[in-house]
Amino acid sequence: MRVLLTGHQGYLGTVMAPVLTAAGHEVVGLDAGLFADCVLGPQPADPQGPRVDLRDVTAEHVAGVDAVIHLAALSNDPLGSLAPELTYDINHHASVRLARLAREAGVRRFLYASTCSVYGAAGGDDLVAEDAPLRPVTPYAESKVRVEDDLHELADGDFSPVYMRNATAFGYSPRLRADIVLNNLVGHALLSGEVLVLSDGTPWRPLVHAADIARAFTAALDAPRDAVHDRAFNIGSEVNNVTVAEIAEQVAEAVEGAKVRITGENGADPRSYRVDFSRFRGAIPGFDCAWTVKQGALELADAYRKHGLTKEAFEQRFTRLAVLRAASENGTVDDTLRWRR
Ligand SMILES: NC(=O)c1ccc[n+]([C@@H]2O[C@H](COP(=O)([O-])OP(=O)(O)OC[C@H]3O[C@@H](n4cnc5c(N)ncnc54)[C@H](O)[C@@H]3O)[C@@H](O)[C@H]2O)c1
Repeated sequence: MRVLLTGHQGYLGTVMAPVLTAAGHEVVGLDAGLFADCVLGPQPADPQGPRVDLRDVTAEHVAGVDAVIHLAALSNDPLGSLAPELTYDINHHASVRLARLAREAGVRRFLYASTCSVYGAAGGDDLVAEDAPLRPVTPYAESKVRVEDDLHELADGDFSPVYMRNATAFGYSPRLRADIVLNNLVGHALLSGEVLVLSDGTPWRPLVHAADIARAFTAALDAPRDAVHDRAFNIGSEVNNVTVAEIAEQVAEAVEGAKVRITGENGADPRSYRVDFSRFRGAIPGFDCAWTVKQGALELADAYRKHGLTKEAFEQRFTRLAVLRAASENGTVDDTLRWRR
């Protein structure tokens, strides 16, 4: 298939593009390139694709495409809270516009990168499955719920949206993100000797390796239509349903000499959910996630050492919010996060 991969220069897109190519697909990218230079290690070989803002996509960008994998977004809660109205413009309205254009162009499958954050304050120790009530607690998570709702309205006999509700990702990507929990804790552990947890450590946080997300999307692309059409799937595995305190313990085991410190200074975190991932395994026989949290922590520690991660890069270059704040302050992007020409 000819696959349009939006967000191909992001953390997940940089891992996913080669997996799709290896599966025999022709990949075309589309990205504003906000984090294109945030690279740790060798420069990735990106697929061809225009530097385009999602809000400026036209029919031309989806012409001749068989399937869309839509990753491009302001990608986490702090970014969403920085500018809620921009989050809705980019993550919600521009995503739905892209889907409409794709449907008009005859694209048959549209894999949407949603998130388990849609369960928000699910709380409790019970596993939440896809039909659980959605209780988003941030503009970011709310934007994902709205897109799922609007894509559902577009589903028909020819156009199949699929809602891939990813757990929180971890693992090495050449376009590293240090602002997601495992990647962040491993960095702190190496750079300071402490595994620093600012919440009280009790919230459940399901995790999944970036490479497992890439394999899941590839499987959903290749699956029979009936298995995935207009369905939501939690992407991850039950073994990686862990509390933040447990994640910290795993990191301390992976990074020699590191000590856990839970300060609780950020108070209780309302985002807590323990997730049931069985629906996707049922839809895609033979699929399971390969990576555990511990393996991911070891992989990250190796990569950080090998590529010489510094404190400055950890806090600035690989923290999405810091990159956008800096770009805004030095005038390379305007108030709406568009490049100044
Ligand atoms: N990483 C995770 O833990 C995780 C978990 C669940 C869901 N997701 C979702 O997966 C997707 C990818 O996440 P990621 O971790 O790779 O994030 P990322 O921030 O690394 O990548 C997002 C990409 O989108 C691009 N982008 C942002 N705004 C754009 C715009 N207006 N126009 C065009 N491109 C734009 C950025 O340039 C970037 O390359 C996102 O939709 C995110 O919400 C991520």
